[in-house]
Amino acid sequence: MAWHCSGSTNHEMITKLREAKILTTDRAEAAMIAVDRAKYCHESDPYLDRPRRIGYNVTISAPHMHAHALSILSDQLFDGAKALDIGSGSGYLSACMAFMVGPRGKVIGVEHIPELKDISEKNVQEDCSHFLKDGRLKFVVADGRLGYPDDGPYNAIHVGAAAEKLPEQLFDQLCPGGRLVCPVVAIEGFQRFQDLLQVDKNPDGTIKTEKLMQVSYVPLTDPNTQLRDSNV
Ligand SMILES: C[S@@+](CC[C@H](N)C(=O)[O-])C[C@H]1O[C@@H](n2cnc3c(N)ncnc32)[C@H](O)[C@@H]1O
Repeated sequence: MAWHCSGSTNHEMITKLREAKILTTDRAEAAMIAVDRAKYCHESDPYLDRPRRIGYNVTISAPHMHAHALSILSDQLFDGAKALDIGSGSGYLSACMAFMVGPRGKVIGVEHIPELKDISEKNVQEDCSHFLKDGRLKFVVADGRLGYPDDGPYNAIHVGAAAEKLPEQLFDQLCPGGRLVCPVVAIEGFQRFQDLLQVDKNPDGTIKTEKLMQVSYVPLTDPNTQLRDSNV
C-alpha cells in the first residue's frame, strides 16, 4: 500500500484515506474523525501516513493500516459488540474500536509493556475520557499471544504486531461470525516477510483464512526481546 495519505490535519488525512479507497466504510470514517491521531502520536506532524515512534522500541501504526483494519472489521464492530486489540500500543486503534461498538460494547486493549498501557490510558483520557468512564474500553497488561479469554468471546480481534505463526488459540476466543486480523511471518527460501491474514469463524464454527497483503509490523514477542537495545 503506498503511503500517500498524509495530511496537515486529521480531516485532510481521513479525506485522502477515503479517496484512496483504503478507508471504505462510513462507520470506520466516523471513528477516525472522532478519535484525533495527534492525541496518540506525540511526534511532530502526527498526520503523516507513516508509523511513528511511541517509545519502548515500537510505533503507532500508519494511518493507512488503521483505516484498513477498521474498514475490514466494520461489520464485526457493530453497536454492542466485543472486541480485542492485541498490542494496543498508543491506544489509538482501541479508541476507534470503542467509538464503533458504542457505550453498550466492550473493547479490551492488551499491551505487554506496562508503561505503554499507562500511556494509552493517558492518551484516551485526554481525547475521549468517556470511553474509560462508561467502561466500554479498558487496557490490560498481558501477553497478547494468549489473547484475553477472561472477557471473550469477541466479535472482532485485531493483532497489531507480527506473530511468528498464526496464534490458533485466538480462534477459541472468536464468536461464530467473528473476524480476526493478524500479521504473520512468512518464509520463502531465504526471504522473510509478513502477510496480513484475515480469519473468519463461520456460524458453524469452521475457520476460513485469507491472505490480504504483505505488511511490515513490529514483532509480537516478549518484553525482554522487544526492549533489547532500547533506549526507550
Ligand atoms: C505496532 S505497535 C502498536 C500498535 C497499535 N495498534 C498502535 O497503533 O499504537 C505493536 C504493539 O504490540 C505490543 N506487543 C508486542 N508483543 C506483544 C505481546 N506479546 N503482547 C501484547 N502486546 C505486545 C508492543 O509493545 C506494541 O505496543
